[in-house]
Amino acid sequence: MSPTYSEESRELAFQEAIDSDRTVEPRDWMPERYRSTMIRQIAQHAHSEIIGMQPEGNWITRAPSLRRKAILLAKVQDEAGHGLYLYAAAETLGVERRELTDLLIAGRQKYSSIFNYPTLTWADVGAIGWLVDGAAITNQLALTKTSYGPYARAMVRICREESFHQRQGFELLAELSRGTKAQHEMAQDAVNRWWWPSLMMFGPPDTESPNTAQSMAWKIKRVSNDDLRQRFVDMTVPQAQALRLELPDPDLRWNEARGHFDFGPIDWEEFRQVVGGHGPCNQQRISVRRAADEEGAWVREAARAWEGRQQSRTSAA
Ligand code: 3HC
Repeated sequence: MSPTYSEESRELAFQEAIDSDRTVEPRDWMPERYRSTMIRQIAQHAHSEIIGMQPEGNWITRAPSLRRKAILLAKVQDEAGHGLYLYAAAETLGVERRELTDLLIAGRQKYSSIFNYPTLTWADVGAIGWLVDGAAITNQLALTKTSYGPYARAMVRICREESFHQRQGFELLAELSRGTKAQHEMAQDAVNRWWWPSLMMFGPPDTESPNTAQSMAWKIKRVSNDDLRQRFVDMTVPQAQALRLELPDPDLRWNEARGHFDFGPIDWEEFRQVVGGHGPCNQQRISVRRAADEEGAWVREAARAWEGRQQSRTSAA
C-alpha cells in the first residue's frame, strides 16, 4: 500500500532533515524502515559487545600476572557496559531489551562474526585488543556521526574506552613479540588467526551489501564497509611493522597511485559460513549466553518484585 500523501511528505521532510545533517531524536517522526534498521544495527552491536565478553573472559583466570588480569577484567567489564549503553539506545526506539535478548538466543538477530573464533593462547587476548578493538574503533569513530542521536552519543563514550582496549592489546603483543622465541611465535600465530576475520568485521563488500546504500542515504553509515576496511588496513600495517609481526597476506603492499595498501582476497565463503551459524564457536557462544540468561532469571524476578513493592508503598503513601 503506497504511503498516504502526508506520509510521503513526511518522508521527504525526513530525508531533507537527514541531508541537512539534522540528528534524529527518539520523539521525532521517522520512517518505519529507518526505525527497524536502527533497531537491527544497534541490537547487533549490543549483542556483539555482550557475546564478545566470552572469548576474552576465557583468559581472566589464566592471565600471566596480576597486572594483566586487572587490565583484562577492566576491559571485559567495559564491554558489558558498552552492551548496556547500546541496549538503552535501542530501547529509545520502542523495543524492549528482553525482546532483543530473546531474538539473539533464538538466532534471529546477529552479533559480530569475529566472536565466533576461539581464543587458543594468551596472545589471542592481545590480538583481539589490537586487531578486533582496532577494527571496532575504525567503525565506531564513523558511527559517532550517525544520524540517530542516542546511538551517536553512545559511540562517543564507547570510543574513548575502546582506545584503551586497543592500546593494551598492542602493548601485550609488543611484550610477547620482543620476548623469547616461543613468545614471539605465539604472538605471530595469534595475528595469523585473527587478521582475516578482523577484516570481515566490516561486513560484505559494498557491491554485495543489501543495506549499505540505504544506510548511507539515511547517514546511518557515514563510510561504506569497503572504505572502513581500507582505513583499518592502512592504519594497522605500520603498527604490525612496529610490533615486528607479519600480517598473513602475501599481496599486502603499498600502492603509491592509490595512496593505500593493496591487500589480498577475503574468503567470503568463510564469512557466510560464520555469519550463517557455522563458525568454530557459534553454538558455544549462544549456549553460554542462554545459560547466563536462565541463571540470571531469579535476579530479574527479585528486582521486579522489589520494584513492585516500592511502587505499592509509594502509591499507598
Ligand atoms: N558479523 C555478523 N553479521 C554481519 C557482519 C559481521 N561482521 N557484517 C555484516 N553482517 C550482516 C549484517 O548484519 C546484515 O545482515 P542483516 O541484514 O540480517 O542484519 C548482512 O550481513 C549484510 O551486511 P550489510 O553490510 O548490508 O549490513 P549493515 O549495513 O548492517 O553493515 C555492519 C554491517 C558494518 C557490521 C554494521 O551493522 C555495523 O556497523 N554494526 C555496528 C558495529 C559493530 O557491530 N561492530 C562490531 C562488533 S562490536 C565490537 O567489536 C566490540 C569491541 O569492543 C570488541
